Amino acid sequence: MPYANEQCLRAREDFPALSRSLDGQPLAFLDGPAGTQVPGPVIDAQNHAYRMFNTNTGGEFVTSRDLEEAMWRTRETVATFVGASEAASISFGANMTTLAFSLSDAFSRLWGDGDEVLITALDHEANRGPWLQLQDRGVTIREIAIDKQGYFEPDDLRSKINQRTRLVALNASSNALGTVNDLSLARKLSREVGAWMLVDAVHYAPHIALDVQAMDPDFLFCSAYKFYGPHVGILYTRPGLLDTLPTNRLCTQSSAAPYRIETGTLNHAAIVSIAAAIEYIASWGQGNNLRERLTDAMGQIYVYEHELAAYYCRRVSAVPGVRIWGPDFSAKPRSPTVSITSGKISTDDAVKNLGAQGFCLWQGHFYAQRVVELLGLSASGGLLRMGVSMYNTRSEIDRLLEAIERLAA
Ligand SMILES: Cc1ncc(COP(=O)(O)O)c(C=O)c1O
Repeated sequence: MPYANEQCLRAREDFPALSRSLDGQPLAFLDGPAGTQVPGPVIDAQNHAYRMFNTNTGGEFVTSRDLEEAMWRTRETVATFVGASEAASISFGANMTTLAFSLSDAFSRLWGDGDEVLITALDHEANRGPWLQLQDRGVTIREIAIDKQGYFEPDDLRSKINQRTRLVALNASSNALGTVNDLSLARKLSREVGAWMLVDAVHYAPHIALDVQAMDPDFLFCSAYKFYGPHVGILYTRPGLLDTLPTNRLCTQSSAAPYRIETGTLNHAAIVSIAAAIEYIASWGQGNNLRERLTDAMGQIYVYEHELAAYYCRRVSAVPGVRIWGPDFSAKPRSPTVSITSGKISTDDAVKNLGAQGFCLWQGHFYAQRVVELLGLSASGGLLRMGVSMYNTRSEIDRLLEAIERLAA
């Protein structure tokens, strides 16, 4: 059975937060790009960890061994989620931003004058700021230009990459515009000059099954709270690479992957619940193993989300004064994230008005500050963004459209 309205209504029962209401109206969680709600099994997994093995790793006693086992199983499950061959390629951290700064610290010990890093105009600041900081070491940062829909300009990439380039840091999907960029050119060119490719897949991972074997990054980030999991950052590193990096770490800490970049005591209870989030998504698919069930489920959920977002896009574009930013829905793949502006009302006022009616939505730049600035929208309050997640329904979208029509009237 494909993932459709009936499956969505069943899934909604698994998410306790969806039963919240405001003034008699159920809350409409259209804020998935900023973080999704979590299903019961994820909450239960954290609960279980606190009840059964609330300790630290490395002890010669049963609760510590149970925790070790759950942590390793989670690394294996996340490896399956990103399509990696080894659990040791998966490291955890407080969030993606903190992990990116840790990597940047390591790179700062490798590079200096004469080295170059390519970033993009499309990226979230978490995939710009940590690399811009390398300028303090003399590293030159160049920015890959984008077109109005948020696609990387291939000729600009070709003209800026060269033998001095050490890193190309770019996203797989834009959290502001929903664009999904093909990274194969960046991979090919970075290989040719011997540079690493680092991918921010935080906005991509909730919607499109990752396959690091096909995408072939050296580093890839995602964040579990964007795909129905806890607030934990995830770093995939190409097998063998992390062991060579001069990361910040204590002399008492393991210097091997995946631990080499994991400082201090981690949030174990949260981390082990990531496995529950991935298994939950996979429970909507068919197949002989977790990877097959997961890719099947994600493929189906993608179609469901895409149709809802395309429907919203079609209808909202007919509202007087509304402009859509980002690619249209003939572009595939595309994330089900739609950003608009209205000529009739500021995004700040719109979001307050909609918030009072129970719509959870974000406005502004969502930390993708550079692209909003380039679109000329910074001074006017940025974008009004809605994102579709697996639990959103057509009636929520209809309610939102009616509310936007009222605002425009
Ligand atoms: C595309 C993208 N990259 C990076 C981040 C930062 O992730 P984290 O909150 O885990 O640091 C976000 C968060 O919104 C994001 O949307």
